[in-house]
Amino acid sequence: METLLGGLLAFGMAFAVVDACPKYCVCQNLSESLGTLCPSKGLLFVPPDIDRRTVELRLGGNFIIHIGRQDFANMTGLVDLTLSRNTISHIQPFSFLDLESLRSLHLDSNRLPSLGEDTLRGLVNLQHLIVNNNQLGGIADDAFEDFLLTLEDLDLSYNNLHGLPWDSVRRMVNLHQLSLDHNLLDHIAEGTFTDLQKLARLDLTSNRLQKLPPDPIFARSQASLLTATPFAPPLSFSFGGNPLHCNCELLWLRRLERDDDLETCGSPGGLKGRYFWHIREEEFVCEPPLITQHTHKLLVLEGQAATLKCKAIGDPSPLIHWVAPDDRLVGNSSRTAVYDNGTLDILITTSQDSGAFTCIAANAAGEATATVEVSIVQLPHLSNSTSRMAPPKSRLSDITGSSKTSRGGGGSGGGEPPKSAPERAVLVSDVTTTSALVKWSVSKSAPRVKMYQLQYNCSDDEVLIYRWYLTMSLLITALPILSVQCLFISISCRGGTWTLF
Ligand SMILES: *[C@@H]1O[C@H](CO)[C@@H](O)[C@H](O)[C@H]1NC(C)=O
Ligand SMILES: *[C@@H]1O[C@H](CO)[C@@H](O)[C@H](O)[C@H]1NC(C)=O
Ligand SMILES: *[C@@H]1O[C@H](CO)[C@@H](O)[C@H](O)[C@H]1NC(C)=O
Ligand SMILES: *[C@@H]1O[C@H](CO)[C@@H](O)[C@H](O)[C@H]1NC(C)=O
Ligand SMILES: *[C@@H]1O[C@H](CO)[C@@H](O)[C@H](O)[C@H]1NC(C)=O
Ligand SMILES: *[C@@H]1O[C@H](CO)[C@@H](O)[C@H](O)[C@H]1NC(C)=O
Repeated sequence: METLLGGLLAFGMAFAVVDACPKYCVCQNLSESLGTLCPSKGLLFVPPDIDRRTVELRLGGNFIIHIGRQDFANMTGLVDLTLSRNTISHIQPFSFLDLESLRSLHLDSNRLPSLGEDTLRGLVNLQHLIVNNNQLGGIADDAFEDFLLTLEDLDLSYNNLHGLPWDSVRRMVNLHQLSLDHNLLDHIAEGTFTDLQKLARLDLTSNRLQKLPPDPIFARSQASLLTATPFAPPLSFSFGGNPLHCNCELLWLRRLERDDDLETCGSPGGLKGRYFWHIREEEFVCEPPLITQHTHKLLVLEGQAATLKCKAIGDPSPLIHWVAPDDRLVGNSSRTAVYDNGTLDILITTSQDSGAFTCIAANAAGEATATVEVSIVQLPHLSNSTSRMAPPKSRLSDITGSSKTSRGGGGSGGGEPPKSAPERAVLVSDVTTTSALVKWSVSKSAPRVKMYQLQYNCSDDEVLIYRWYLTMSLLITALPILSVQCLFISISCRGGTWTLF
């Protein structure tokens, strides 16, 4: 109330009170721009009768809980919107869609749990986005997309953020101030700040950062401002209150000429709690990787799964890569999975996997290697002895699956080559991206079959995959007279199409 009165006195008679004004609010038509001021009026929602021509709208200090799509509809001339100090916990997507002139949005001290993809949609001229003191736990990757180039001031401090859409931040080339302090950030992507030439203030205080990506902009935070130019201002940069891991990766930071501050190291053990700027450069050391455990030899039946393990220690923690016998780097594919803990899972082995796999552990201080000998016991391949089925193809978009049937003997073969093979019908149905139902009937006179071989090819890999199924493990349907047998196969073929032979 005091501030409102102050405002009234200061403006004196320079404005006229406008006719249409929501109850409890003060509306002033000052030099042809309309302001609607409703601060601390006990409002429970945004008044629906706000003049849509308003240029400044102040709704701070009320008890608004929810923002809906109609609240700011048609306010195309609104430049300044204050919603600070309410209890807003939900903003309907597209609520700000019409605010194409908005330059400043204050949402601080509310209860927002997240910013969705379309929460801030339409704010194409936004310069100041103030969302500190909320409960933000997550921000959608595209949340800032509409104002990446106009934004000058972004305040997300005092939230619960573990991460940010770093790729968006990287593109905010007009950013002057970035406040991320008092969150739970534990990682900042390399290159995030490189293009932020106008950044003058960066606050990362009190997060969970163990390291910082080296970046040329930090040179502008040095005490001697030799590198600052009118285009690249000095940078005020704070990062105290983080558990810094003081190894060779932070040497670049230690080498900056900055006034001593109170930053301390969180690890390694010997440096814990010591003042960052008092530690000598020689003490920022890394340890090269040492492989402590790995699989030595593996003997695998073709088509079966194989797990190759490799563990390494070092400082920083080494990353583990696998190189296949054909010298190719192994990545995630339909047949293989590489985990961060160093394990390589080959879900279905083929004859190509025979040979030496190499585990490479690497970090900033060096690398170490170990070899795993894999021997694949090959099974006879019978595909050439039988005619191929017309391949039922299935594409990724074909999620519901289509029923495809085809005739031919390609889907089955005996443990021994079939003698006077009676004509067999093999039906393939329920084909989806990951599975198919294979049915066939066996006449009483057919030779005893111990195993079935199934072959398929995933367009992701260049190899034909053979899988064997023991008769005993087959699901045999309860139709003993016809002896219909069936087999439900599931196939992993990520991002590709598969073909059954
Ligand atoms: C504000 O006043 C100007 C003239 O001073 C007038 O043209 C305009 O329509 C007024 N706006 C509103 C919203 O009353
Ligand atoms: C916004 O404008 C449209 C078209 O003029 C109108 O139909 C709609 O009722 C308006 N909405 C509000 C909340 O004023
Ligand atoms: C492979 O996928 C697993 C999850 O299935 C993931 O944890 C891992 O990081 C991925 N590896 C690579 C190299 O992308
Ligand atoms: C590595 O991680 C994978 C997936 O999380 C898990 O299945 C496997 O058991 C782990 N291996 C080791 C050696 O911890
Ligand atoms: C099928 O026969 C061709 C030559 O006729 C041979 O190159 C190929 O390796 C055979 N395929 C299998 C799976 O045995
Ligand atoms: C498997 O599919 C790929 C891609 O469709 C193809 O290049 C390759 O020749 C196929 N391999 C076999 C053995 O059919």
